[in-house]
Amino acid sequence: MWIYLNDRFVPKEEARISVFDHGFLYGDGVFETLRAYRGKAFMLNEHLARLEKSAARLQIPMPVKRSRLSAVVAESLEKNQLTEAYLRITVSRGPGEIGLEPALCRSPTFVVIANPFEPYPESFYTDGVSVAVVQTRRNLPEALPPQVKSLNYLNNILAKMEATALGAFEALLLNQHGELTEGTTSNVFVSLGGRLLTPAQDCGILAGITRNLVLQLARELKIPAEETRLTAADLAIADECFLTNTTVEVLPVTQVDGQRIGDGRPGEITRRLHASFRDSLDRLLAGR
Ligand code: PDD
Repeated sequence: MWIYLNDRFVPKEEARISVFDHGFLYGDGVFETLRAYRGKAFMLNEHLARLEKSAARLQIPMPVKRSRLSAVVAESLEKNQLTEAYLRITVSRGPGEIGLEPALCRSPTFVVIANPFEPYPESFYTDGVSVAVVQTRRNLPEALPPQVKSLNYLNNILAKMEATALGAFEALLLNQHGELTEGTTSNVFVSLGGRLLTPAQDCGILAGITRNLVLQLARELKIPAEETRLTAADLAIADECFLTNTTVEVLPVTQVDGQRIGDGRPGEITRRLHASFRDSLDRLLAGR
């Protein structure tokens, strides 16, 4: 297994970074998670654009240009002979003396990890998963903007621990106004009376690339869709619910806080959108 570290591929065992890296000391950095299908990174440009945007918000200089970044991703897949893969790109502030001041760090650390993709159990899709609306609130956009995909995931980790303690697959976090935001590593959708609804970006979420694609597919399928404001009460009366992210794609949710959603089975709109996602995969990978 080869890891790209800063400027070259190194064997996994030699892929080490400094204990003075501000990514380690302060969570000062950004990342992206990508999927490769049939040897090709999916939605690569969208992920790289979001990575650049996150880095820019934290004033971390990108270590390489977009074109080189794309090439490193492709080389990571090739060198590790991967076709169905999980990719993780990390850019941290880099090593520097202890202290919050970014100027202490001269050059960012850049890492690309490519691993074989481990598929989720089939039952996740045939039966759906459970979620819990947790007590941990999503970071205030005015404090740590959720649209920055930073290395500081403590807000999400606290929520995840609550979900795990409750026996739920994913946590859903509310914002300070009690509105639904997103999961710890996913965006959330509900279907209510034939309409597809998802929290708007200004509720304080990461603008998921899968979320965006699903909204586009809904338009193509003529399913009325809306970015709006939702509460836990809307979840309780929803006909369907699903989560989206790069690795789960479109994942049906059939239980919230121990109560069934709709008839307790994955819904029709969820199924149609996932099928359409799979079709668009073929289309997008073929460059059509
Ligand atoms: N997480 N919201 C949060 C907080 C996330 O961390 C993610 C992705 C998403 C969905 O975004 P996308 O559709 O672009 O994957 C929403 C990745 C998968 C991760 O944590 O590794």
